[in-house]
Amino acid sequence: MIQDQQGRGLTDLRISLTDRCNLRCTYCMPKEVFGADYQFLRKSEWLRFSELDDLVAAFVQIGVRKIRLTGGEPLLRPGLTKYIQRLKDFHGVEDIAMTTNGLRLAERVSELKAAGLDRVTVSLDALDAEIAGKMNGRGVAPRAVLAGIAAAQHEGFSVKVNMVVERGVNDSQILPMTRYFKQQGVTLRFIEFMDVGNHNGWRMDRVISGREILQTIQSEFDVEALDLSSRSEVAKCYKFTDSSAEFGLITSVTQPFCHGCTRARISADGQLYTCLFASSGLNLKKILRADNYCKEALVELLSQHWAARSDRYSELRTHSSVVRDKVEMSYIGG
Ligand code: GTP
Ligand code: 5AD
Ligand code: SF4
Ligand code: SF4
Repeated sequence: MIQDQQGRGLTDLRISLTDRCNLRCTYCMPKEVFGADYQFLRKSEWLRFSELDDLVAAFVQIGVRKIRLTGGEPLLRPGLTKYIQRLKDFHGVEDIAMTTNGLRLAERVSELKAAGLDRVTVSLDALDAEIAGKMNGRGVAPRAVLAGIAAAQHEGFSVKVNMVVERGVNDSQILPMTRYFKQQGVTLRFIEFMDVGNHNGWRMDRVISGREILQTIQSEFDVEALDLSSRSEVAKCYKFTDSSAEFGLITSVTQPFCHGCTRARISADGQLYTCLFASSGLNLKKILRADNYCKEALVELLSQHWAARSDRYSELRTHSSVVRDKVEMSYIGG
């Protein structure tokens, strides 16, 4: 398998299907920046599904086995279900997951399951309606999202919930969220607030470390560390001693995991990024649409590009906000 400069293979491909979202989370798409006049990609700029087919085939040839569909909000992309069906038939794709805000999930779970989606991850930062509404920037209460999660479980999906923890904003929700999702048998993952993009007002003193989150959980629950983390898994996993429920800590700020980073990302308009914190990408759409495009050359180019990769932003980050232009997470696909 092809390896980068740090000996890392490429097994996970994250595909952003749109840069649009129906929420405005403060840490991702603050509404002051992503307002009515914000220039999102035009639909004509999106990669077509047939172009994605060619890309996926090429990535599978160099090692990709897991595909994650993201956004923005992937449920907003017309044709999503049919595309999942196509992916499912792809030889070599072993796992298809989707990260969604869950708002419109309940009404879509059956068709997604039937299409062959394997796993669903839902973003939710609070059970308290006021805190959740503030963080999602649209005043949306968690009711619809919780219904989406329950519907996904009912449909037989393995569901994870991602909670971004920001000091002074939703740290009061760590225990209520833990209690609720433990009871529901849903794996809750706490994500350290990251300095992705350029607009989310990130400061180190707003980060609650995974260690601190763990201490908060241990003030009420007995837990044990699980050692199932595969090299590419971003979360440190734990389980409660009195149940089979699990939770995870995603400590990309205080304990980075770049050494095991086997992920590449494609934006909705076909730029390839080899790091979440990259400032520029490789224009795959241009290559796919060139007159001299050929599949073999694409595979060769992707191999060379990955072999030259040395990204490890989180390991190099200083404890101050790094002053350089980064791509937005809603564009690159969290
Ligand atoms: P599985 O392990 O397949 O379930 O997926 P995942 O945990 O990679 O997917 P998910 O989209 O749920 O990612 C969880 C969160 O971890 C993301 O939202 C990011 O906040 C963070 N994350 C994922 N991949 C990376 C990465 O490569 N670098 C950094 N710094 N953070 C990441
Ligand atoms: N820090 C940490 N996690 C973030 N996400 C989006 N922006 C940030 C950030 N600044 C998370 C979302 C979602 C996932 C795709 O990325 O909550 O679960
Ligand atoms: Fe939308 Fe997800 Fe970003 Fe929130 S974190 S604004 S739900 S893309
Ligand atoms: Fe991978 Fe970049 Fe995240 Fe490190 S910072 S884990 S290299 S995406």
